[in-house]
Amino acid sequence: MTAPMITGWGKCLPPAVLSNADLERLTDTSDAWISTRTGIKGRRISHAETSDLAAVAGRHALAAAGLSPAEIDLVIVATCTPDRLVPSAAALVQAKVGAVRAAALDLNAACSGFLYGLVVADQMVRTGSMRRVLVIGAEKLHFFLDFTDRATSVLFGDGAGAVVVEPSEEEGGLLSFELGTDGTAADILCIAGSGTEGAPAAERRPRVEMEGPTVFRRAVEAMGEASARVLEKAGLTVADVDLLIPHQANRRIVEATARRLGLDEGKVMVNLEAYGNTSAASIPIALAEALEAGRVGAGARLLFAAFGGGLTWAAAVYRWGARVAPLEVSEAALPPTSRSGRDLLEPNVVFYGKGG
Ligand SMILES: CC(C)(COP(=O)(O)OP(=O)(O)OC[C@H]1O[C@@H](n2cnc3c(N)ncnc32)[C@H](O)[C@@H]1OP(=O)(O)O)[C@@H](O)C(=O)NCCC(=O)NCCS
Repeated sequence: MTAPMITGWGKCLPPAVLSNADLERLTDTSDAWISTRTGIKGRRISHAETSDLAAVAGRHALAAAGLSPAEIDLVIVATCTPDRLVPSAAALVQAKVGAVRAAALDLNAACSGFLYGLVVADQMVRTGSMRRVLVIGAEKLHFFLDFTDRATSVLFGDGAGAVVVEPSEEEGGLLSFELGTDGTAADILCIAGSGTEGAPAAERRPRVEMEGPTVFRRAVEAMGEASARVLEKAGLTVADVDLLIPHQANRRIVEATARRLGLDEGKVMVNLEAYGNTSAASIPIALAEALEAGRVGAGARLLFAAFGGGLTWAAAVYRWGARVAPLEVSEAALPPTSRSGRDLLEPNVVFYGKGG
């Protein structure tokens, strides 16, 4: 049996930046607080829709794999911020990238969504039922942020990352994984009133709501414990890990997870200072940037760990293949915009009012 492997990767970050200084003018916060409590300095605000971000990241991943869109059998978009409920963001992406033969589905496991999608793709390819799967994590989270709520609005950002999974003759790929959920803790991180339960009280627009310190504690526990279990399942120890690519929620969460595992700081991929928490997009963006920076070598053993609303968590051990450079490069890009991050928030400010 040939192992399903990641053969292509890509990302899409919208150009408009929202800095901590911009947030100081919107809510009662400070660059000093955000930097020290989260490590985040800026985040991107998208002028395009989730499916546009996803399609650009997807095209880069297809080029890196040297594939044409028509060779894809399945498009999975992990997102909790689709353009519409129907059709799926994946259906829109299928059309935008021209994956004319592909089935398409959205997968919502919040910030753990990309790893859930990677596992689904791996298992589909492993059984032979699908040959080539495009897995994308994409979010336009700012749409659901109340910028008068300093507890949530400083944390999140927009973006997309993608990979192609296909059979390979190489040894490696996904060596072990764990997917978990605790639905009894659904309310500690949610977008209430965003579905059939109807609008939230006082006719507020659905927005991200979170019990930050509880989420923090559960994140460190779940990612640390799941990581230890997947390492054991793969017959490896922490010393065998070349790079941890965790969900980019908060630098303190990432550091506490690494400490709990006993992993060296130098073996952790962190890029959240530039993008904040991009939910399902954070791991594939971090993976693409780790490859660009030469931090993933041939045969590298990667540890992925994620945590998000649900509560969901996921961890996986992945052995990279021989190729660490893209086969081709795509020119795909979002349509240009001259609007600033602050300009793009105007609809949110109209709905929620201006705090601070
Ligand atoms: C949200 C989070 C950064 C808050 O950090 P924290 O150290 O736990 O801070 P607390 O919530 O205990 O708040 C400490 C103080 O800072 C204040 N504060 C909270 N957000 C603030 C902000 N953006 N700016 C300034 N002050 C802020 C609080 O009101 C509180 O003030 P008080 O002591 O006067 O009551 C942290 O809990 C966290 O990262 N949680 C996980 C969030 C997450 O990753 N969610 C997504 C998971 S996928």
